[in-house]
Amino acid sequence: WKVQDVLQEQIDLIATTVGPDDHAICALSGGVDSTVAATIVHKVMGDRLHCVFVDNGLLRYKERERVMETFKRDLHLPVVCVDAGSQFLAKLEGVVDPERKRKIIGAEFIAVFDEFSRKLEQELGKKPKYLVQGTLYPDVIESCPPPGVVGHSHTIKSHHNVGGLPPSMKLLLLEPLKWLFKDEVRKLGKLLGIPEGFLKRHPFPGPGLAVRVIGGDVTEENLETLRLVDEVFTASIKEAGLYDEMWQAFAGILPVKTVGVQGDKRTHSGSVVLRAVTSEDGMTAERYTFKREFLDQVTREICNTVVDVNRVFYDLTSKPPATIEWE
Ligand code: XMP
Repeated sequence: WKVQDVLQEQIDLIATTVGPDDHAICALSGGVDSTVAATIVHKVMGDRLHCVFVDNGLLRYKERERVMETFKRDLHLPVVCVDAGSQFLAKLEGVVDPERKRKIIGAEFIAVFDEFSRKLEQELGKKPKYLVQGTLYPDVIESCPPPGVVGHSHTIKSHHNVGGLPPSMKLLLLEPLKWLFKDEVRKLGKLLGIPEGFLKRHPFPGPGLAVRVIGGDVTEENLETLRLVDEVFTASIKEAGLYDEMWQAFAGILPVKTVGVQGDKRTHSGSVVLRAVTSEDGMTAERYTFKREFLDQVTREICNTVVDVNRVFYDLTSKPPATIEWE
């Protein structure tokens, strides 16, 4: 097939599906899939598409500024940014269990999205009719296991998306990527003028940095440390020209303080873990093997620049037995 034909087919399909006065809403995550899906729908519906980007306070270093810039400057998408950080953090206070963190974040996200849609309804004087989702073919297969496949629907981690919207919202789905794989979506994105750097971004989990404050309280302080460490690691990978060689690279905070010496002082500070993996589809993964000098330099930079970190670990585990994320 040709990317151009797939794009045209989807544009035609949406154009014949939606009426001239219908409105659609879309939650942009900052990832490739929702961005490509929204950009296709925007070509047909223009400003009758209403996108929302939720800042849940669990985003990476300067993430909100970076993605909003791409949405507006490069893609001209109509996007409202909802600042819901304190709302999410209040709900997460004292929660350390990974599944509970995920459930709380999923439920809070739906509450924010519902509120966005209600406000929009008041502005428009009518309900939006469609919901745009960046569902890919592997997501479709995963949620509809073929008959007789045992263990397929077993929840390893509850992945958070907008699948669980309240029935009262009664939205019809527009899923222009439903028959495509990730590499095909990237090609489509390129054709749509989405910047290459954006299309090649590593995946990022819906529950964000909350699942990288490992076994710990999701506090503003922990999140800030994590953002800085993650940024040093990712920027060093990009600088070394290694970013496209891996599926994902990120940092996590470990729930342990250790003794160290920094300057001429004894410290009792935090520890972080770095993880980088290669993978075809995220279902299995191998650890990425850095040159030793690279890890030495990143470790030095983290301990020198991030206050409250005096120890750095590197995760050697494949998936299985580990998962890519720690929670
Ligand atoms: P695991 O940790 O299960 O992750 O090996 C496989 C891939 O999925 C990403 N991931 C998520 N993505 N919502 C998402 O959209 C989630 O809740 C979520 N949890 C994990 C993970 O980063 C990896 O790329």
